[in-house]
Amino acid sequence: MPSPPTLTKFLIRERRRYPNSTGDFNSLLLDVAAACKLIATAVARGPLDAHAEFAAATNVQGERQHRLDAIANEAMLASCEGGGSLAAMASEEMDDICCVPSSRSKGRYLLAFDPLDGSSNIDVNVSVGTIFSVLRAAQGKAATGADFLQPGTRQVAAGYAIYGPASMLVLTIGRGVQGFTFERASGEFILTHPALCIPPDASEFAINASNSRFWEPPVQRYVDECLAGRTGPRGADFNMRWIASMVAEVHRILIRGGVFMYPKDTKDTQKAGRLRLLYEANPMAMLVEQAQGAASTGRQRLLDVQPSSLHERVPVILGSRNEVERIARYHGEFDSGADKPFDSPLFRARTLFRQSMS
Ligand code: F6P
Repeated sequence: MPSPPTLTKFLIRERRRYPNSTGDFNSLLLDVAAACKLIATAVARGPLDAHAEFAAATNVQGERQHRLDAIANEAMLASCEGGGSLAAMASEEMDDICCVPSSRSKGRYLLAFDPLDGSSNIDVNVSVGTIFSVLRAAQGKAATGADFLQPGTRQVAAGYAIYGPASMLVLTIGRGVQGFTFERASGEFILTHPALCIPPDASEFAINASNSRFWEPPVQRYVDECLAGRTGPRGADFNMRWIASMVAEVHRILIRGGVFMYPKDTKDTQKAGRLRLLYEANPMAMLVEQAQGAASTGRQRLLDVQPSSLHERVPVILGSRNEVERIARYHGEFDSGADKPFDSPLFRARTLFRQSMS
């Protein structure tokens, strides 16, 4: 049996489909992969480096910045800015976009990324990751922040690296989803998970249940029905997971199915959701759709959302298609007043997540 291809070989094979391609796209993806290898190495050293400490800083989101956030951000910038394929980059860790210096050639792509997603978990050695999205740049002018405000349907590639027991790069270039495992001995990403496919049905959901009192009724309804298990309206027992690291949650869903929700809630009415549209929700939504799953805000296909600012937040519900469609339907029924939430007296007495037991 031939050995599985490296990421480089895979991209070369894919490029043959486009005889007029310049190689810029592949070069960009290999630059991103190179940065991910550096970040994987930094993350793997864990507490052996002073990097494990929090820096005395907050990022543009007002969140505590870990030194590894800054290191991962620098690794992405340094690896990608000189390759000639990018016009500009946007990052969770930077207020404004970073244009490729004028001394370097201006490329045809834009890169948006979260350099180290889930970094609040670094101290407890939970899997974290880098999420990225590639868009086309406008030609014939200097790049601006407005150029990034494209709906997710316009992404030409998206992916993440997960730094867990094994480090992996999971990628879509618009023809399915491929997973590559980092082989430290050779320094290569090897194709280990070709054509990832999310099963349409699932019995596992992930949500931060500590926010349940802030959820909207359709989300409450879905979770109540899952928790009711075999004797409830779903007639099946469900599992719940919450890692608090989106990369790890999406990875689980790509491997074995399930649903991930960070929905709209009333915790902070100034925020439309928790997760960022351009460099968290959109790339994950593209991966999930390319793996036959679905991704929604609850009220709209995620990839159709028209961004209005670089760091905007959005509700996210993604994973197994039939479950995501069910949750979207519950939103529709709630908005139109046609919903019939599950409300058995038996379940009410047992639920953990209801505000009122009356
Ligand atoms: O956006 C960063 C992030 O860490 C995600 O990876 C994760 O899904 C979410 O935040 C966790 O949020 P919470 O701390 O509310 O559980």
